[in-house]
Amino acid sequence: MRMYDIIMKKRNGGTLTGDEIAFFVEGYTRGEIPDYQVSALMMAIYFQKMTGQETLALTMAMAHSGDMLDLSAIHGIKVDKHSTGGVGDKTSLALAPMVAACGIPVAKMSGRGLGHTGGTIDKLESFPGFTTALSQEQFLENVNRIGIAIMGQTADLAPADRKLYALRDVTATVDNLSLIASSIMSKKLAAGADAIVLDVKTGSGAFMKAEEDARALAAEMVRIGNNAGRRTIAVISDMDQPLGYAVGNALEVREAIDTLKGGGPSDFRELCLTLGTQMLLAGGKTQDPEEAQDMLQKSIENGDALRKLAQFVEAQGGDARAVYDPGLLPHASLQLPLAAPVSGYVSHIACDEVGICSLMLGGGRETKDSQIDLSVGLVLQKKVGDYVEAGEVLAILHANDESRAVQAGERFLKACHIGTQAPGKRPFIKEVLTDF
Ligand code: URA
Repeated sequence: MRMYDIIMKKRNGGTLTGDEIAFFVEGYTRGEIPDYQVSALMMAIYFQKMTGQETLALTMAMAHSGDMLDLSAIHGIKVDKHSTGGVGDKTSLALAPMVAACGIPVAKMSGRGLGHTGGTIDKLESFPGFTTALSQEQFLENVNRIGIAIMGQTADLAPADRKLYALRDVTATVDNLSLIASSIMSKKLAAGADAIVLDVKTGSGAFMKAEEDARALAAEMVRIGNNAGRRTIAVISDMDQPLGYAVGNALEVREAIDTLKGGGPSDFRELCLTLGTQMLLAGGKTQDPEEAQDMLQKSIENGDALRKLAQFVEAQGGDARAVYDPGLLPHASLQLPLAAPVSGYVSHIACDEVGICSLMLGGGRETKDSQIDLSVGLVLQKKVGDYVEAGEVLAILHANDESRAVQAGERFLKACHIGTQAPGKRPFIKEVLTDF
């Protein structure tokens, strides 16, 4: 088999066989096929697309390119959750303890943030001392003992995706449905859970801006997961404005804690309950969605979910006192209120721009090696549809550097549109996809 023939076949609109796909994935992972040939193939795939069969074969080849985690030492059905990423997305911080408090083990691999979206690991590191550098034994032991463990992605998990993603990132071949679906699902399959609940975002802060694209991606991932023998469900949720009010690592941790105490923003609570319900159903806790939702609500009301968060933080070396006293979390030295220039309804908040404001304050990474400031970010005071008087506060910036705060503040005010008419309501949860 020759890489040249595979590139030409795809360039001409042909369908690659499973063997041809395995050949290039294995050869590229081993360093035997050069970047320039794989770049050409990625571009051919970008234009000619892949069939469902090809996408599944690509996913399986990437999943098997490194370690396939064996979670069989963990009792019960293991359910993983994955978000396609967004602004203010602190969902795992509240959802994992809620689900674990209901008796479903959460054994999760998470990533760090890059660009305008944040990563769960960075957020968790707001707890002083918290680490995700667990050995595999510790990881399994923690899940069996307390019901949750979160680990950083190891280099040995789907290494083909790591190489391919880095290449796609610099060759303008990221935004192809088959390539995104196979990239996400290869990591999820290799991470070993029995069932997978996907949170596919749509809107201005999401990868998939258009709802129909998000739906197509969700359907493809559900189909891949189910074909690979893992029960897979996708929830399509709105990311046209930040999730909740807080954007920025420690600020988001505070909001997740508030939610576990029974408060928190209504959209965030709705998302945790919707995803949690699907996780409890997939984990075999009950077959009744209403009962699942009641169990999750109860885990908040009786304090079990908050205690679960504290146990989890402590088990991974973090200062669990911060769960009960968020004053112990990192906090910024400056708070800058941003006032509405005119009266009216908040008609649109450009979500990706809000993520960039947090990045400008130091809360995100421009490159993989950037250091981040866990304390900075912003807390919205108004969301889309709210009425605001001129001079009323739209958001509060949390910063450690005045000039960065001023620049980020100017950018935020441009991103926040105020109109005379109340905007139409966008449903927050668009759809739950279960089988294809
Ligand atoms: N996230 C991934 O893991 N891979 C993609 O291709 C896009 C988003």
